[in-house]
Amino acid sequence: MKFFIDTANLAQIKEANDLGILDGVTTNPSLMAKEGIKGEEAITNHYKTICEMVDGDISAEVLGVTFEGIVEEGKKLAAIHPNIVVKVPMIKDGIKAIKWFTDNGIKTNCTLIFSAGQAILAAKAGASYISPFIGRIDDSGWDGVQLISQIAQIYAVQGFKSEILAASIRNANHIIACAEAGANVCTCPLDSILGLLKHPLTDIGLAKFLEDAKKM
Ligand code: G3P
Repeated sequence: MKFFIDTANLAQIKEANDLGILDGVTTNPSLMAKEGIKGEEAITNHYKTICEMVDGDISAEVLGVTFEGIVEEGKKLAAIHPNIVVKVPMIKDGIKAIKWFTDNGIKTNCTLIFSAGQAILAAKAGASYISPFIGRIDDSGWDGVQLISQIAQIYAVQGFKSEILAASIRNANHIIACAEAGANVCTCPLDSILGLLKHPLTDIGLAKFLEDAKKM
């Protein structure tokens, strides 16, 4: 399973990348706004900086909701760097645009996936990645990891090529469950990635080893 970090914060991207386990980055308008990135030039420069920091797929989301608008914007985003993946919302015009990008050799990430039906449509359009938001599904009283399993099963049976990118990750257990359920990628906040490191018995064991090392 590939690890992406789900943030536009450069310090957090650097910290995850320095671990040596980062395969890419996902952003969205909320994450960009959180970092105070405003205006076309600043947005473009921010994506450029991220692409120069991390050698992997970098998802950059379109803001348009019409076919023409999404295609226009996606072409500009894709021109920023070869590693840019155009992130497109799961709407009717979005599906049309994903098909257009597929036919024109531009990688896409279909975002805001909340059902298996949406995952099937996005795969039919040729999306490189599809992003089910598992934390938001859990927040609504449904089971996000169950959706990952269902999509993984459908894609395996049907031979769909889109990669399942589990998004809206809330904690380390989500990452483990998504790995078990067959996600190809998990995009995670830094805290959730670092959460995988933790176990109290590791801390207790290390303290004892260090204490005993003094007697060696
Ligand atoms: O990649 C999508 C993700 O950022 C959504 O996460 O925590 O806003 O549900 P969240």
